Amino acid sequence: MGYLKLVFFMLYTFLCQLAFSSSLPHHLCPKDQALALLQFKHMFAINPNASDYCYDITGQEIQSYPRTLFWNKSTDCCSWDGVHCDETTGQVIELDLRCSELQGKFHSNSSLFQLFNLKRLDLSYNNFSGSLISPKFGEFSSLTHLDLSYSNFTGLIPSEISHLSKLHFLFIWIPLGGLYDLSLSLGPYNFELLLQNLTQLRELALDGVNISSTIPSNFSSHLTTLELSDTHLHGVLPNRVFHLSNLESLDLSYNPQLTVRFPITKWNSSASLMKLYLYDVNITGRIPESFSHLTSLHELDMGYSNLSGPIPKSLWNLTHVERLSLSHNHLEGLISQFSRFGKLRVLYLGYNNFDGRLEFLSFNRNWTQLRVLDFSSNYLTGPIPTNISGLQNLLWLNLSSNNLNGTIHSWIFSLLSRNQLHLSDNHLSGKIQEFKSKTLSDVALSQNQLQGLIPNSLLNQPKLAFLLLSHNNVSGQIASTICNLKTLIAVDLASNNLEGTITLSVEKFRSSSPKH
Ligand SMILES: *[C@@H]1O[C@H](CO)[C@@H](O)[C@H](O)[C@H]1NC(C)=O
Ligand SMILES: *[C@@H]1O[C@H](CO)[C@@H](O)[C@H](O)[C@H]1NC(C)=O
Ligand SMILES: *[C@@H]1O[C@H](CO)[C@@H](O)[C@H](O)[C@H]1NC(C)=O
Ligand SMILES: *[C@@H]1O[C@H](CO)[C@@H](O)[C@H](O)[C@H]1NC(C)=O
Ligand SMILES: *[C@@H]1O[C@H](CO)[C@@H](O)[C@H](O)[C@H]1NC(C)=O
Ligand SMILES: *[C@@H]1O[C@H](CO)[C@@H](O)[C@H](O)[C@H]1NC(C)=O
Ligand SMILES: *[C@@H]1O[C@H](CO)[C@@H](O)[C@H](O)[C@H]1NC(C)=O
Ligand SMILES: *[C@@H]1O[C@H](CO)[C@@H](O)[C@H](O)[C@H]1NC(C)=O
Ligand SMILES: *[C@@H]1O[C@H](CO)[C@@H](O)[C@H](O)[C@H]1NC(C)=O
Ligand SMILES: *[C@@H]1O[C@H](CO)[C@@H](O)[C@H](O)[C@H]1NC(C)=O
Ligand SMILES: *[C@@H]1O[C@H](CO)[C@@H](O)[C@H](O)[C@H]1NC(C)=O
Ligand SMILES: *[C@@H]1O[C@H](CO)[C@@H](O)[C@H](O)[C@H]1NC(C)=O
Repeated sequence: MGYLKLVFFMLYTFLCQLAFSSSLPHHLCPKDQALALLQFKHMFAINPNASDYCYDITGQEIQSYPRTLFWNKSTDCCSWDGVHCDETTGQVIELDLRCSELQGKFHSNSSLFQLFNLKRLDLSYNNFSGSLISPKFGEFSSLTHLDLSYSNFTGLIPSEISHLSKLHFLFIWIPLGGLYDLSLSLGPYNFELLLQNLTQLRELALDGVNISSTIPSNFSSHLTTLELSDTHLHGVLPNRVFHLSNLESLDLSYNPQLTVRFPITKWNSSASLMKLYLYDVNITGRIPESFSHLTSLHELDMGYSNLSGPIPKSLWNLTHVERLSLSHNHLEGLISQFSRFGKLRVLYLGYNNFDGRLEFLSFNRNWTQLRVLDFSSNYLTGPIPTNISGLQNLLWLNLSSNNLNGTIHSWIFSLLSRNQLHLSDNHLSGKIQEFKSKTLSDVALSQNQLQGLIPNSLLNQPKLAFLLLSHNNVSGQIASTICNLKTLIAVDLASNNLEGTITLSVEKFRSSSPKH
């Protein structure tokens, strides 16, 4: 027995070695595919400016770099940056050229279309110079993953995309309000075709594409991500969307013609939904009780959507919310009630009818993670509390256009990483103290009763873009160092008791304004 076993073992290892060595040729990658990739590379120039920013698939900002630069014949194409081959067949199955600084026209005769085994193709964050999306993309019949976002493709998204029936992931979004906004569109029935045929879809993002239709109700039940902001959608959002049992992220913002009526009973997506973005849509009726079941919700934006009255009870159950925006509505009630949200990082409540005083901030230990706090344009009264030990991480504070009075306490000036401070249009008095932060970008204290000198630390800020101190009683000489603030976009010191002349040309401000 033992002898037999040994023979078998030796034979097995021998066969195994044979198989292994024969699957280790010097060129895994088929020659024609290497050639197709090199031809593709040579169709484009490398331009570091091709994309003004880049994010990886998880949303982390990354640096672009020219992945194709070192592709060359001396190495196996399967080892080239961004290229992945099937381990057994050697066929190129993945091409990841996200953020690769490619610039130039993408023609229908592109050699890329010879890589017909591709399963994943990511061409996002490049500059294809206004090219049309070729109908030939519809021939990659194995594709499960396609990303053509933010790459300066224009025109009609071809209906052939709906041939890609294996797609799990389809991203062709355009950044909001940017240069490309609505430069891509879907033909009248193509949205319906797309959704009906792509029955395996998990993630769909078409933000900024001119879809101009209603949302059909017949689409993949596997959806986890549906992002369709700024797409000219109209009609009523089908209830089926709320009942997708795997839905994690829904963004329909900036579709003012889209009517959203929440289901009044528990949604099937209640346990899974983490992000709900409904800024500037037509929300009709109240926020229903069914919201209280959204126990996984981390991000909620229902700004600018005509909500009124007190905060509905159901919202108080959303204790995991880290990012909350209810700005630009007609909501009312005491501002202090929001301290119930214990995990907030970002809170926008501006442009509502909230009232009450800010004392609750002094003994609030719940907001140590808070980075953005915006209570602007409400009816808040009383002083800014003297000691706020729980808000060390605040980068952005906006309390403008309320009825706050008293002095501005030193903690406001001593936050080290602070970059925005907006307290304009209140009844604040006293002196402006020296700022400890060196990272200030916006300081707006206009329309108060502030006195004293402009602190030197304000005139010594390497990133200052807005300095608005008008309509106060600030006095003294204007220090000439103000002219050293290279990043300034706007400065307003009018209606004070200041002396001196500022010899700055508007031109200088313009030419030195930072690009965003
Ligand atoms: C990239 O942008 C910078 C700054 O705007 C410019 O100086 C440079 O010429 C640009 N490079 C190319 C290759 O266009
Ligand atoms: C070819 O690719 C190899 C490996 O990436 C690289 O070291 C070499 O510099 C490249 N040669 C050329 C001429 O680009
Ligand atoms: C591809 O098509 C473009 C435009 O039609 C043309 O300028 C280019 O020469 C063609 N390239 C090849 C390799 O045929
Ligand atoms: C994109 O490419 C086009 C022409 O190829 C060029 O005019 C444009 O400036 C480029 N855009 C950027 C941001 O570099
Ligand atoms: C997109 O490409 C067009 C045509 O080349 C060019 O004029 C435009 O500047 C590009 N847009 C951006 C934002 O690069
Ligand atoms: C749907 O997908 C199938 C299979 O890929 C394809 O044959 C058919 O043409 C597609 N239908 C539409 C309307 O795109
Ligand atoms: C969007 O598409 C619709 C219908 O296809 C068209 O009427 C409208 O003009 C387009 N809007 C923009 C901003 O391109
Ligand atoms: C679309 O509707 C048809 C008929 O109602 C149905 O057979 C099909 O399964 C639906 N497709 C999806 C993706 O829900
Ligand atoms: C918003 O919804 C209401 C109620 O359903 C409807 O009467 C109104 O026409 C909608 N507005 C828009 C702009 O669609
Ligand atoms: C909402 O919170 C209240 C009070 O904490 C609790 O009684 C209720 O069961 C919660 N509802 C859900 C759906 O979790
Ligand atoms: C802090 O948050 C917890 C949990 O969210 C909450 O129970 C508590 O009442 C909050 N504290 C204050 C002072 O609001
Ligand atoms: C702030 O305003 C209230 C009335 O709203 C007033 O009672 C209080 O004295 C004022 N405090 C200061 C310091 O002006």
